[in-house]
Amino acid sequence: MNHGLLVGLAVPAGLLAILAIARLARVRPVFRPLVGPFALATGAVLGLLVFGGGRFPESGWLALVFLVPFLILLVRGIVIAFQALFRRRQGAAPPALLDSVVSVVAYAIGLGAIAHTWFGLELTPFLATSAVVGAVVGLALQDTLGNLFAGIALHTEAPFRVGDWVRVGDRDGRVDQVSWRAMRLQTWDGDTLTVPNNEVARHSILNYSLPRSPHSRVVTVGVNYHTPPNKVISVLASLLEQVPGTPPEPRPTIRMVGFHDFTIHYEVRYFFAAYDEYRRIEADIYRLIWYHFKRHGIEIPFPVRNVFLHQAEAPEAHKEAPATRLERALRQIDLFRPLSDEELRTAAARCRPLHYAAGERIIEEGAPGDSFFILDRGEVEVSKELGGVRRPLARLMEGQFFGEMALLTGEKRAATVTAATDVDLFTLDKPGFHDIIVGNPAIAVDISTILSERREALSQAEGDLTARFQPTSSRGELKERILDRIRGYFGL
Ligand code: CMP
Repeated sequence: MNHGLLVGLAVPAGLLAILAIARLARVRPVFRPLVGPFALATGAVLGLLVFGGGRFPESGWLALVFLVPFLILLVRGIVIAFQALFRRRQGAAPPALLDSVVSVVAYAIGLGAIAHTWFGLELTPFLATSAVVGAVVGLALQDTLGNLFAGIALHTEAPFRVGDWVRVGDRDGRVDQVSWRAMRLQTWDGDTLTVPNNEVARHSILNYSLPRSPHSRVVTVGVNYHTPPNKVISVLASLLEQVPGTPPEPRPTIRMVGFHDFTIHYEVRYFFAAYDEYRRIEADIYRLIWYHFKRHGIEIPFPVRNVFLHQAEAPEAHKEAPATRLERALRQIDLFRPLSDEELRTAAARCRPLHYAAGERIIEEGAPGDSFFILDRGEVEVSKELGGVRRPLARLMEGQFFGEMALLTGEKRAATVTAATDVDLFTLDKPGFHDIIVGNPAIAVDISTILSERREALSQAEGDLTARFQPTSSRGELKERILDRIRGYFGL
């Protein structure tokens, strides 16, 4: 083809190709690094066509003018292909460190090939001496190379990504960058911590951001021994619902984890979506614990030395003495109405406070028993197993009593009594009860009335599993019989 025509076609075609690649780089920015070397390479080809008559220069140095832009173009193309391949396999862009390694290796091979082909450089002896030089340099650069290879290993294994919160050894931080030599972390204080790669590789790495959100943490709180665990757990659960930044699912968990010198320890596991939020969330939890515990009268014990000082005075000073509370509770009970103040005090002295959590069985049907219970707070459910099915008989509330049947008749427990809520009780044993009845036989009459009603309800339920309780005409008789039995039992 005519040289003039060839130049006439090649120049606009070359310019068009440069424009096309510039346009492509604008749409797909990954191709941007190709634009410069492509323009240079095209310029070199056009220069060759226009000034060199289309023949490749004989001189090696002149050839470099053409070869170098092509080498740059080729290496950048290889890096782009490597990035695409890496992204496809790992799901994320390769770190800058790996890009650099790929380019250095590609340049080394390309320059070696050029040196061999155009400058007649024999590479074999060079490679042999380079082994010796390599060993010397390797020794000198032991640490640097160690860091480099550790960095490559870290990237290949990918135990973290840029932006992840990690713990390396005993240091926490957010990964800002991983370079040839080191990993750069941003600490909680906003400082930059640079850890050499080989040190990172030597330590175990805890990644707070993988595999996925939410992650959880634990706060432990110690509470005094007086507060029922269910109360503490329900107060903690309700305050956790109010902590901003915690996801609705999974819900926080609260566990009692141990009895310590002056405290019961509770472990609260809460969840959060972003690791850098956890300190704020934890501070909110502690802050809310103080307010909620204060409102619910739950004391957070002071350190041991203070506990003695404060517990001896402060809490008791504004609390009602247990004995007075018990006398007041006993006075609320119809059954004990006939008792004089003195008798009530004696009765109270024989009572023992008990606490049950919701769902716990207080009395087991069929078990022997000779204690009497008075409900101070909460509710219980009385049930009986009839025909293989547990059937509720009654729900007793504050001020009511139970357990009188076995105590007064010496029979086995007639029903099961379960705490329907958290329950505070007072219990009285047989000698204590005996003292009260002997002093006030009228109580025996009242008890026998209630007892006969309950007994009748029991036998009615036993007779008809589905029937509701209806008082019957035989109740008077039953009551008399029970009364006689009580009197005989207590020698009244
Ligand atoms: P006791 O048999 O000692 O233990 C179980 C208790 O359940 C029993 O005494 C009563 O106090 C109580 N109880 C049994 N039946 C009824 C009922 N129908 N209504 C209320 N309480 C009952």
